[in-house]
Amino acid sequence: MAISSLISTLPKAELHLHIEGSLEPALMWQLAKKHQVTLPYNSVAEIEAAYQFDDLQSFLDLYYAGADVLRDEDDFYQLMWSYLSKCREQNVVHAEIMFDPQTHTLRGVGFDTFMPGFSKAIDQARSEWGMSTLLIMSFLRHLPEADAFVTLKEAEPYYSNITAIGLDSSELGHPPQKFERVFAQVKELGFKIVAHAGEEGPADYIWQAIKLLNVDRVDHGVKCQQDSELMQYLIKHQLPLTVCPLSNLKLKVIDDMKHHNILQLLEEGMLVTVNSDDPTYFGGYLNENYDQLHAALGMNTDQLKQLLANSFTASFLPEPKKQYWIEQINAA
Ligand code: ADE
Ligand code: ZN
Repeated sequence: MAISSLISTLPKAELHLHIEGSLEPALMWQLAKKHQVTLPYNSVAEIEAAYQFDDLQSFLDLYYAGADVLRDEDDFYQLMWSYLSKCREQNVVHAEIMFDPQTHTLRGVGFDTFMPGFSKAIDQARSEWGMSTLLIMSFLRHLPEADAFVTLKEAEPYYSNITAIGLDSSELGHPPQKFERVFAQVKELGFKIVAHAGEEGPADYIWQAIKLLNVDRVDHGVKCQQDSELMQYLIKHQLPLTVCPLSNLKLKVIDDMKHHNILQLLEEGMLVTVNSDDPTYFGGYLNENYDQLHAALGMNTDQLKQLLANSFTASFLPEPKKQYWIEQINAA
């Protein structure tokens, strides 16, 4: 079977996806009309054309502005439903989905609005096609740690719906160290922990995420090659990296997909995975990210199968479920 067919038909897990980053321009346009929100665009095509970025911050400015059209429970249902339907189309059988509460609570949209919207779509996808989904609540790191404590408290009625807590937004100048105390509480509460580190920031931020936040996975982490001791640590402990190739290209972390280091990291024995991050902003969902690795880096079938197996190994699924999916991949 051609590698493109394997990419589209084999089961996959996605571990690094911001639900707000899956807002399709057409849905943004429709919701802006519904709520009479004025967008700085005159058409859906203009929204699409605006998605050209110089760095992480230039993307985040548009991403937070775009999220302003999400106002009521049905908007969040539609947002989640649209992503989960894409998963079905692409054979993504398991997704660990990040959401940014502060992007909404700061606008007066509360947990009692977005959580029921998310849950309705998640329950429907589970009952209609057996999709498995976990939620990761992320703190915005450009805000003070005190605000993260408030968010953690506000989330209390929804703890049973949340598997992990993460850290995202503007990396440079906001090291993991800034959130050491709140993640100590997160750990005590028994959540899994993830953090964006080494996307634009240095290898030292990855060390901080490991040593100070106790992360179970590192989101991005592509700057780990700056530090050989860190590389050895990541290999020895099989600490997963959720890598997002198209995101790295669009945010100019790399200048050409041909220079992406994911296959080098894989060959060195690191537990790397492929993810889409913010698919509507970066020009592709999960399968398009795998396609790019084949087109630009010559990813072969063995490497593809290893990356697919890694997506389950690095997930927060129970062991028997991981084994089930890995066997399906190996048998293909
Ligand atoms: N929030 C959404 N996408 C992000 C990314 N790639 N890095 C940091 N924060 C984000
Ligand atoms: Zn991300």
